[in-house]
Amino acid sequence: MLELRNIKKYYNQGTVNELCLFDNFNLSIPDHQFVSVVGSNGSGKTSMLNLVCGSIAADGGQILVNGKDITGKKEFERHQSIGRVFQDPAKGTCPSMTILENMSIADHKGNCYGLRRGKNKGKAGQYQELLRSLNLGLEDKLEVKAGSLSGGQRQALALLMATMSPIEFLILDEHTAALDPKTAELVMELTGRIVKEKQVTTIMVTHNLRYAVEYGNRLLMMHQGAAVMDCAGEEKARLQAEDIFQAFHEISMGYGN
Ligand SMILES: Nc1ncnc2c1ncn2[C@@H]1O[C@H](COP(=O)(O)OP(=O)(O)O)[C@@H](O)[C@H]1O
Ligand SMILES: [Mg+2]
Repeated sequence: MLELRNIKKYYNQGTVNELCLFDNFNLSIPDHQFVSVVGSNGSGKTSMLNLVCGSIAADGGQILVNGKDITGKKEFERHQSIGRVFQDPAKGTCPSMTILENMSIADHKGNCYGLRRGKNKGKAGQYQELLRSLNLGLEDKLEVKAGSLSGGQRQALALLMATMSPIEFLILDEHTAALDPKTAELVMELTGRIVKEKQVTTIMVTHNLRYAVEYGNRLLMMHQGAAVMDCAGEEKARLQAEDIFQAFHEISMGYGN
């Protein structure tokens, strides 16, 4: 169980640009849940993910994992149990390193051995099998530099790398937004497959309402640092993209924008 309790988050505190984004924000995510998060630009989606990952610190409140307070834990410590994929395919892989080197580093996450050695020939066969599951022909390109792959191939590789070591949480921040529709579909299918297979607790931010409907067993809509819609289970399963769009519209009208 991941819990955000009474989270407070300010930006530019004490200046004319002060923004209190989260004012006693609460969220509990049970193990193995797949949460799709939607919401307008600036509603606090990325900030919420950054708080979970420890990329930014909260100004109040607590973050707990299985009842254990991790609020003070640094980003690199939390990184051990978190896989994260960003919108930019370039962020999840190292362009100047080969696919093999990239995968080796991901495999040895936070382990000096992997970082020093960079390569691990013995594992090549295993990595090849993983790559084969992507159906992108990357299994024959272990020695190719990640920087020469297409955006979609890189994002698929980033997703694979984020999930190849044992993790508790998968954090996806608009990870298909920069891809063309066909490639986005492919990466989304891969996401669904990996989440199902690994039963990893997942938070996926997306602007694609169809993905939000088709994937995940909980839907959260954020607006101005609050969860204005939160449905799970049967209720989520019945939800249509039009329902979310309608709710989106009503909420932004209600808030005068
Ligand atoms: N580092 C920062 N400094 C100042 N303001 C920020 C910073 N990061 C985010 N914000 C502000 O916080 C709000 C939420 O941003 P963000 O979490 O990125 O939203 P979203 O991901 O939903 O688009 C926005 O108004 C944004 O301008
Ligand atoms: Mg964002």
